[in-house]
Amino acid sequence: MNEIDYLRLSVTDRCNLNCFYCRPDKNLVQLPPKEILSFEEIVKFLNLATHWGIKHVRVTGGEPLVRRNIVSLVKMLSSVQGIEELTMTTNGLRLAELALPLKEAGLSRINVSLDSLDRRKFSEITGCDELGEVLRGIAAARRVGLDPIKVNMVLLKGFNEEEIFHFVSFALENCLLVRFIEHMPINEIGGKRWYIPNTEVRERIQKKWGPLEPVDSSPGKGPAHYFRVNKRQPTLGFISPLSEPFCDSCNRLRLTADGKLRSCLLSGFEVDLKGVLREGAPRETMKELYEKVIRNKPKHHHFEFPYAGRFMFEIGG
Ligand code: 5AD
Repeated sequence: MNEIDYLRLSVTDRCNLNCFYCRPDKNLVQLPPKEILSFEEIVKFLNLATHWGIKHVRVTGGEPLVRRNIVSLVKMLSSVQGIEELTMTTNGLRLAELALPLKEAGLSRINVSLDSLDRRKFSEITGCDELGEVLRGIAAARRVGLDPIKVNMVLLKGFNEEEIFHFVSFALENCLLVRFIEHMPINEIGGKRWYIPNTEVRERIQKKWGPLEPVDSSPGKGPAHYFRVNKRQPTLGFISPLSEPFCDSCNRLRLTADGKLRSCLLSGFEVDLKGVLREGAPRETMKELYEKVIRNKPKHHHFEFPYAGRFMFEIGG
């Protein structure tokens, strides 16, 4: 069993984009505010979880930057003893205005989800004409030193595959890490219709740029495999949940905005932490639940039965 030291913390199920493969229906019912963990409840849990091994916390959503007073939450989290790294995954839409306050509040670095560098395509995928704002957000994050900045691009067959080269140039020109992510069928949205194996993506890149040089000491302990293009700094990452599963090295748990602790993105197994936090249950009860989740970490993803029980935007990727 791997050491579980990484928690992905979803702070809201709301999002200011509607990517068709993640949050397909704008009118989805959203959690009422009283169902969402308060900042105090989150911190109370983390003050325990750091004793049980959590060292890295990644704030996610929905879109974390639409949670009211998110900067205050980051500040509260950065002063929890035992959290060595505090990071965030965002769509970047509010980053131009929030990069500096987030940095000052103690955020270590940031990942930005961005699936197209073409304004029309971006609108088609997200339902919003906001590419410019995301690019301004990335620039602001660089200015304030929220780096290394990683850009996550989910490859979607028939939508953005012709942009692979553009993203490689974008990484090289802006000293960013671009990570190509294989689309996973979650709750059967799309099935495997949009899936392109990363082996194919690497081949296409190598034909144009020459051999990709693998990087041993990856910038991050996560599932990405990193490569250099043209002997430059690690520039490209590949996250391949379908073609190169990484369950063996999984070190993470997930806490949803409504306080359910999950053992895996794709397994429906979760326990209700909010209930016990609100009852003021003793530390031992919380620890038992925590350990139960770890014991129930599945050994593998089962993409044949892609039933996560929730949508991606409710779990936070
Ligand atoms: N498959 C793969 N990646 C996804 N993401 C969202 N939905 C999917 C999916 N079905 C990505 C987001 C974000 C990361 C946390 O997960 O784009 O960058």
